Order: sequence, then structure tokens, then C-alpha cells
Amino acid sequence: MADQTVQLTDSAANKSTALPVVTGSLGDPALDIAKLNKETGYFTFDPGFVSTASTRSAITFIDGDKGVLLYRGYPIEQLAKQSSFLEVAYLLINGELPTAAQFGAFDDEVTHHTMMHESLRHFLNGFRYDAHPMAMLCGSVATLSAFYHDTLDIADPEQRRLAALRLIAKMPTLAAAAYRFSIDWPVRYPRNNLEYVTRFLHMMFEVPSEPLQLSPVAAKALDLLFILHADHEQNASTSTVRLVGSTGANPYACVAAGIAALWGPAHGGANEAVLKMLGEIGTADNVSKAVEKAKDKNSGFRLMGFGHRVYKNFDPRATIIREMCHKVLADLGVNDPLLDVAMKLEEVALKDPYFVERKLYPNVDFYSGIIYKALKIPTEMFTVMFAIARTAGWVAHWLEQHNDKDTKIGRPRQIYTGATNRDYVPLDKR
Ligand code: SDX
Repeated sequence: MADQTVQLTDSAANKSTALPVVTGSLGDPALDIAKLNKETGYFTFDPGFVSTASTRSAITFIDGDKGVLLYRGYPIEQLAKQSSFLEVAYLLINGELPTAAQFGAFDDEVTHHTMMHESLRHFLNGFRYDAHPMAMLCGSVATLSAFYHDTLDIADPEQRRLAALRLIAKMPTLAAAAYRFSIDWPVRYPRNNLEYVTRFLHMMFEVPSEPLQLSPVAAKALDLLFILHADHEQNASTSTVRLVGSTGANPYACVAAGIAALWGPAHGGANEAVLKMLGEIGTADNVSKAVEKAKDKNSGFRLMGFGHRVYKNFDPRATIIREMCHKVLADLGVNDPLLDVAMKLEEVALKDPYFVERKLYPNVDFYSGIIYKALKIPTEMFTVMFAIARTAGWVAHWLEQHNDKDTKIGRPRQIYTGATNRDYVPLDKR
């Protein structure tokens, strides 16, 4: 689209400004407002960046109306069926699916970066016994920068690559260590003979006194959940990683900031909040009351796991997880009454005009907690699961940002609403 513009007319100043239109390979066009303030004296105002693109990116694309999610152009449904989390991590970072040799080298390098320093293990011992695992993960990931001085020079592409790989490799080790600490069990070291997800489950659940019998269903289910949670455009935590990255901060600090952002119940913390909500609702009979409460603005209660900034249709990940729920629970011989509550809640909400008018559908967090629970992962570890998976997306965006010539330090403007200029009043005069 050669040099298309949109005319902005300022009736007060009787002036018209041509705003260049920017288009990508897919998705809505955008107005380039980089010079808006200089040319018109105006800023734009967009709390929560509902209509604002912060960057160009080639990693993930979402069509919210159609419920489409592509990682590097590949539909999430195909990757969920045919790929693995570690292969998806390679794809997100490198932009192409690996050959067998490329994946073998990647897998081998990740496998040989899974250990953590013993003194980092002692760092974890400094937490109180009841520390939330997200607090421990956030702290320990930021602390990686104190151990790996060989990957702090972000101007060096090889150091950037190695830091990204280390973060993918060590996240499961740190996550499992946080869990083991919370149950006062000794940390299990990563086993190089196991593949990525099975290795994590062993670090989580292996009992010191006997070998762990793991059902292949559990590893496959968790691998699929990690694929579905790996990346999602400029969501709050990824935007946080990019904003921190724009200051030149080291990759461990950037990802620790992403973990902190993910923790909120409006974002990655929703999966933990969904299970608590389903537990509080208790039975299918109480669902209608919960839906009514969620519609009451004064209640302060929202249906956790419902709604999305971009999806105004079913979250394709929720559709996949919903189907998976039944299979995993059946394969594991688990009968969870919370699944009946969730199904009833979805049925009632999707028929209710309040939810229909606002296009509020179940999102990725609505069903995932039921599967985590069936895999015996404790509720407070649910968002940690999300962080393990999203590390692939966070580091892919961090690498992309450092290869983007348009990257500059992120520094939004504001609409000032405070006191206008006034003189200081000495204390004895107030
Ligand atoms: C994730 O961005 C991503 O991509 C995130 C994510 C990813 O992969 O990174 O997909 C992961 O974070 C999924 C979302 C998990 N969060 C939740 O499930 C928490 C519950 N959902 C909401 O808080 C909310 O829907 C958000 C935060 C997800 C989206 O918020 P928006 O886009 O800012 O929407 P909004 O708050 O402006 O709501 C629009 C309307 C409002 O009503 P009105 O003022 O128009 O009358 O819908 C209502 C809201 O009150 N609404 C809800 C609701 N979500 C929105 N009402 C009841 N229950 C809800 N869950």
C-alpha cells in the first residue's frame, strides 16, 4: 500500500495533518503517530494500550474476531497436535521449524544448561517456609544475573543467544526447586537422559526413596499446555519484558520483570484464581448466583478465566484445553467435580446477554487449572507453569527487540491532572 495516509483535521486550528498508514503481513493497519506531537501539538491517550501497537513483530499473530493464533505463521492447532514445547521454543526464537540436526543441537545445549549453582540453591533457602513460588521464581531468575556474568553484555549476539537458551533451560529447575522448598523436600537435580517436560516432572515429584513412575499422559498433557502458553503477542508480561529490555537491562532482569507482571490475577495469575473461584462456587447449582454476581459492577467479582483484551471469540487455546481436559482426566482416572462446575459456568455465561454483548468467552486460563490439578500440581504453582512456558515467548521477543533498529527506550507520556503551578507555604503559615 504505497504511502497511504489518513487525514487528521483539527477544526480549532483549521489545520489538516496526513498520518502515514503502517501495515503488516496480517492484521489491522495502524496510523504512524511518531511525529504527531511535533506536527500537531497533540498526544494520543489510550489507557491500557487498547488501540496502540508498541512495536512490529514477526513472532505471533492473533485474530481476536476469528479466534486465530499463529506462532511464526503456524496455526496453534497444528503445533498442538504435531509439535513439542521445545520445538516450539526453537520456532519462536529462530522463526523456522528446526531440521532434525538443528533440534538435536538445541535440545542438547538446553539439556546441558539445566543445572543451577549450588549457592543459588542456598539463596532459595533464605525464603520463609510459606513463600509463594512465584515470589521465589521471580527472585531466583533476577539472581541469575549475579551468576552468569558471561551473558550480561547485551550488545554481543552470542551472549544474547546463550542467555535466552539458559533461561529456557533453567526455568523448570528453578520452578521445581521452589516447589520442593515449599514442601520441605530435597531439591532433585535435572536428569539429562530425560526430555524437557518429563525431566521437569521428575524434579517436581521424584521421591528421594524410590524411582518415580510417571504416566506418559502427564508429560504429554503438560507439554501441550506449555505449547499453548508459549507466546501471545504483546500481552502484559511480554510488553513488560520489552519495556525493561528497552532500557538495556540484562535478560535475567527482563524475564524476572515479566514473571512479576504475569503474577497478577488479571493475567497469568488467573489460572490459580479460576480454581479458587470454582472451589468457592462449589457445585453446579451455585453457578447462576456466581454469574449474577459477576454481572454486578459493585460486587468487585469477575468470572476468572473469562474475557480477553484481544479475543472477542473463543480463545483457540481454551478450545484445545477444554477437549484435552476430558481426555486427560479419563486417562488418569480422575473424576473432578470442578470440571462439572466449569462446564456449567461456561454454559450459563455463554447464554447470558451480559457476556454475549461484551464478547466474553473462556480464555486459556479457564480450563488449564483443572488439568494441572489432575497432574497433582498444587494451585499456587499454576502461574509458575505459565511462566515456564512463556519464557520461550519472552526471550524470543527480547531477542527480536535487540535486532530491531526501531527499538528505543519505552517512555509513554501522560495527561497531567494535578495542581497547577503554586508557591511553597512555610510550615508556620499553613
Ligand atoms: C491472560 O493479553 C493476553 O494475551 C493475555 C493472555 C496471554 O496468553 O498472555 O491471553 C493470558 O492473561 C488471559 C486473561 C486472564 N484473566 C482473566 O481471566 C481475568 C478475568 N478477565 C478480565 O479481568 C478481563 O476480561 C481481562 C483483563 C482479561 C480483559 O480486560 P479488558 O480487555 O481490559 O476488558 P475490560 O476490563 O475493559 O472489560 C470489558 C467489559 C467491562 O464491562 P463494561 O464496563 O463494558 O460494562 O467486560 C466486563 C468488564 O466489567 N468484563 C467482565 C469480565 N471481563 C470483562 N465481567 C465479568 N467477568 C469477567 N471476567
